[in-house]
Amino acid sequence: MIKRVRSWWTRKDKVQPPERSMDNVPEHVAIIMDGNGRWAKSHGLPRFIGHQNGMKAVKRTSIAADKLGIKYLTLYAFSTENWKRPKDEVDFLMRLPQEFLALELEELIEKNVQVRMMGDREGLPAHTVNAMEEAVRRTQGNTGLVLNFALNYGSRKEITECMRELGKKIKSGALDPEDITPEMIDGQMFSKDLPDPDLIIRTSGEMRISNFMLWQMAYSEMWFTDIYWPDFNEQSLYEAVAEYQRRTRRYGGLT
Ligand code: IPE
Ligand code: IPE
Ligand code: MG
Repeated sequence: MIKRVRSWWTRKDKVQPPERSMDNVPEHVAIIMDGNGRWAKSHGLPRFIGHQNGMKAVKRTSIAADKLGIKYLTLYAFSTENWKRPKDEVDFLMRLPQEFLALELEELIEKNVQVRMMGDREGLPAHTVNAMEEAVRRTQGNTGLVLNFALNYGSRKEITECMRELGKKIKSGALDPEDITPEMIDGQMFSKDLPDPDLIIRTSGEMRISNFMLWQMAYSEMWFTDIYWPDFNEQSLYEAVAEYQRRTRRYGGLT
C-alpha cells in the first residue's frame, strides 16, 4: 500500500505504483539516460526525435519518482564527452533544457519540485545556463522532489576541480594535507548538497558508467535495463526500485 502521499502528482496521475512495500525506497536515484539515438533509429526516425522523446521520459520518470517517495532524482543529460558529437546534435541538446522548462517549469513550481544543476557552467551556451538558472532560482524554496540535472557533467572533471581547490588551500597554507578527509572531498564536489546515490540506473543495455559520479557511487546499487531511455516509464522505475529493495547493502560489513 502507498503510505505516503507527497504531492499533487501523486493524486492527479492515473498510474499508481504496484502494491509493494514503500519502506526502504532509495533516497537518491541517479539515471544514465541512454539510448535516445538507437530508439530513433529503431523507429526509422532522426536522432533528434529520440532526444525529444527522451524529454517526455524525463517528465514521466520525475512524476513516478515523486510518487514513490524518492527524494533526489539525478538525471545525466549531457556529459563532458558529449561535446565530441556533431555540432548540430550538440546544438539541439543544448536547446532541450529551455524547451523542457518552457513546457514544464510552471508545473514543477506548482508540484513543489526543486530543480538543481550539477556540472560545469563554463562551456555551456548562455541560453542553456540562463534557462537552468531561472529554474533553479524559481524552485529553490521548494521542498519536494529534488530534480538534479547533470549537464556538462563529468566525474573526472569534478574530481580534478576538487583537487585544484584543495591544492590552492594547501599552497596558501590554509590546509594541511594530513587534514584532508573523505568528507572534505565530498564538500568540494558538484554534488556536495546531495547524499550519495543509493541506486544508479542505466538504460539501453550498455554496462558502463561513462564518467558518471565515480566518487559518489562507491556503495551505490546498480540496475541495468535494455530499454531505451525514451521507452522508460513508471513501471521501469518500479522494477528498478523493487530490485533495489530485494538487495542487501553491506558496505563491506556483515549482515
Ligand atoms: C542519450 O542517448 C542522450 C545523451 C547522451 C545526450 P544517446 O544519444 O547517447 O543515444 P544512443 O546511445 O546513441 O542510442
Ligand atoms: C552517457 O551516455 C552520457 C549521458 C547519458 C548523458 P553516452 O551515450 O554519452 O555514453 P557512451 O559514449 O556510450 O559511453
Ligand atoms: Mg549513448
